Amino acid sequence: MSEKIAVLILAAGKGERMRSDLPKVLHPLGGRPLLAYGLETAKALKPSKIVVLTGHAGDRVRKAFAGEKVTWAVQPRQIGTAHAVLCGLEALKGRGPLFILYGDIPLLRPETLQRMRTAFSEEDASLAILTARLENPKGYGRIVREGNGEITRIVEEKEAEDWEREIREVNTGIYLARIEDVRGPLQKVRKSIVKGEYYLTDLVEELIAEGKRVVTVGAEDEDEVRGVNTRAELARADAALQDRIRLRWMEAGVTMIAPETIRIDARARLEPDSVLHPGVVIEGSSKVARGAEILPYSVIEESEIGAGARVGPFAHVRPGSKIGPGAHVGNFVELKKTSLGGGAKANHLAYLGDTSVGARANVGAGTITCNYDGFHKYPTVIGEEAFIGSDTQLVAPVKVGRRAWVGAGTTVTQDVPDGALAVSRLKQQNIPGYDSNKRKKK
Ligand code: UD1
Ligand code: CA
Repeated sequence: MSEKIAVLILAAGKGERMRSDLPKVLHPLGGRPLLAYGLETAKALKPSKIVVLTGHAGDRVRKAFAGEKVTWAVQPRQIGTAHAVLCGLEALKGRGPLFILYGDIPLLRPETLQRMRTAFSEEDASLAILTARLENPKGYGRIVREGNGEITRIVEEKEAEDWEREIREVNTGIYLARIEDVRGPLQKVRKSIVKGEYYLTDLVEELIAEGKRVVTVGAEDEDEVRGVNTRAELARADAALQDRIRLRWMEAGVTMIAPETIRIDARARLEPDSVLHPGVVIEGSSKVARGAEILPYSVIEESEIGAGARVGPFAHVRPGSKIGPGAHVGNFVELKKTSLGGGAKANHLAYLGDTSVGARANVGAGTITCNYDGFHKYPTVIGEEAFIGSDTQLVAPVKVGRRAWVGAGTTVTQDVPDGALAVSRLKQQNIPGYDSNKRKKK
């Protein structure tokens, strides 16, 4: 088992059923391109080398993953999976075991590959195939077995006889192969008459004819082997991924109300005893600390929510924001690159951008920062325990001091010293009898 392993990810296909200008493996799933998942699984195996095979729109795929430590291989024309593996093997001159993964199967678990590895070495196999039993096997290659239960071949659906189509056990397309055993047989694979492609699945018969050992390993979970070929399958993969993420956080001590309505980015971190209400969306590598409560329909993007803070309902916390412990952000409040100190409050209808709010300060309803002059963004600083009256406009750059007060309806264009009151509105005038005078003139 200590033998060094290599990984080949096949990602050359067009993915024409996506009906998209974007290469299939670049379609986002949970905030990351599809191919990122296969790569992550590959890395978890700590392989000696990862080869990614591209073809259709390969330059775009390579560009999206520039900086990754992988070897790129190219299949100039997509004429079948057997040919694809041969192209990948050109980047792998050596011997030894090779995992063949697909760029469009995102939810595969490293533990499943580990089980394949065990079976492969225990049975001294040339090829291990990951199979799955599906309620609806449509579209997949079927595993054909002999009376004694041994696999004899894989038949593609388009070529299957009626009785073969009844088989529920399918080829997931994930393999572990011994490079030196498959190189020769792969070259013998002939073009399918039906599809005009070189099928990797024909390798099974070639190997068996040479007296080599082919074994199968069953996947435990149907979701993890499902390929993404259409937008509907992408949505299904997304649902399965979200299920997994939510389950993991609930097991870690997070309460979710109506979990099926909540979306959590795979990179987000949640602490125990935090509570997520219906319709909450948490994006990017956001962090929600212990005891924080995110009320319904709030969106948190790439931000940190402190311990015991309350956010929402209907709050929009945009990237780069940091909400201190016990702070409150209420309904229809939008924050961007804004920090709230501990116990600070912005409870109703406000926009705070590029702002730092001191601890225990209170930001009244309707307060907005005017942080953009059409060319540049400017900061606003609100001191500790300051009180910003309702309907205030803070024209940045501007500073409101510690324990300073701003009267309702004020347009703050100059700094307010610590402890001072700023008011900019006109003094109220009352004109008695105005209504009756007006009516007389009609
Ligand atoms: C393949 C298997 C089928 C299996 C199914 C599982 C073959 C002949 N059939 O069928 O038994 O049930 O996967 O999902 O292998 N690719 C290339 N170059 C090519 C052709 C394909 O790189 O020339 C890549 C694609 O990008 C994709 C993968 O190989 O990642 C599978 O190709 P696809 O055409 O989707 O094969 P299926 O018809 O789904
Ligand atoms: Ca496929």
